[in-house]
Amino acid sequence: MRVLGIETSCDETGVAIYDTSRQGGDGLLADALYSQVSMHAEYGGVVPELASRDHTRKLLPLIEQVLAEAKMTRAELEGIAYTAGPGLVGALMVGASTAHGMARALDIPVLGVHHMEGHLLAPMLEEKAPAFPFVALLVSGGHTQLVAVQGLGEYTLLGESVDDAAGEAFDKAAKMLGLAYPGGPEVARLAETGDPKRFRFPRPMTDRPGLDFSFSGLKTHTLTTLRQHEEAGTLDAQTRADITRAFEEAVVDTLVIKCRRALDQTGLKRIVMAGGVSANTRLRERLAVETQKRGAEAFYPRGRFCTDNGAMIAYVGAQRLAAGERDVPGEMQATPRWP
Ligand code: KG4
Ligand code: ZN
Repeated sequence: MRVLGIETSCDETGVAIYDTSRQGGDGLLADALYSQVSMHAEYGGVVPELASRDHTRKLLPLIEQVLAEAKMTRAELEGIAYTAGPGLVGALMVGASTAHGMARALDIPVLGVHHMEGHLLAPMLEEKAPAFPFVALLVSGGHTQLVAVQGLGEYTLLGESVDDAAGEAFDKAAKMLGLAYPGGPEVARLAETGDPKRFRFPRPMTDRPGLDFSFSGLKTHTLTTLRQHEEAGTLDAQTRADITRAFEEAVVDTLVIKCRRALDQTGLKRIVMAGGVSANTRLRERLAVETQKRGAEAFYPRGRFCTDNGAMIAYVGAQRLAAGERDVPGEMQATPRWP
């Protein structure tokens, strides 16, 4: 089954075509992405109405682009999958209405899928793909979750953030530091020049059992440290970098401690990391060391499939459509809050 996948939940317009008659990454016939990041950067965050309008402008040209890349006509598509949530409602509706309109015109099945399931299974598109079952750490701008994955659609939530998501913490720390949006990569860059030994920030919720996370206290700790140095007149460039490094170390260490615990608790030997924060180099290095120590293995999507993209939606949608799942024709789904 050759399926068109559409992602428009936030600030990236992603489109891809996945063919279920092939295995893993070989099934990805084409994939295209248009990022709105530079447009929103001016405002320091995503402006929902601008996001919707830009998706409207870019989506159809991107669909033409992937069809050309896959050397296919529209009539050769056998299904359409789109991100039905969670996300910005207007942005979601652009993808949902386009998917339903095209499916109706072509008389093919259509299905709305969960954005986080896309992230969760994005590593399946890699040459080194994990076999089921595995533990997954989902770390994006909106979610921080540990999930036990038994198979497609068989997910058990092991723990999640009780307040800010890890990516949100990176973005907020970046704002305090006066760094550009989106903050994660900027914080990581500045942290590289920081001394990891100068400050030690707390590792929230690691001193008690359980797999939940909390990152809002760390944000406050960062702000307080910055203020103290500002008031003392000691906030030079090196100190800013050192504080940034301490923040990154604390987030990464907290995530790694919980991953270790999740592997011990489930007895599983494979861990998958996905979502925007999984692009973080320090996190990857640390997790690699920890998994190796336990005779376990870590799996990641390639850099461009860590953040939002159409390929992960085409993949998940294709699996589900091939298994017979469908939306009711004419009933598009756009669910901004979807647990
Ligand atoms: O998955 P994603 O693209 O969008 C959501 O669904 O949220 O994740 C975006 C998040 C942002 O918070 C961004 O700051 C963070 O991922 N991020 C990073 C890095 N690259 C992106 N955080 C830390 N280190 C990075 N290298
Ligand atoms: Zn995402």
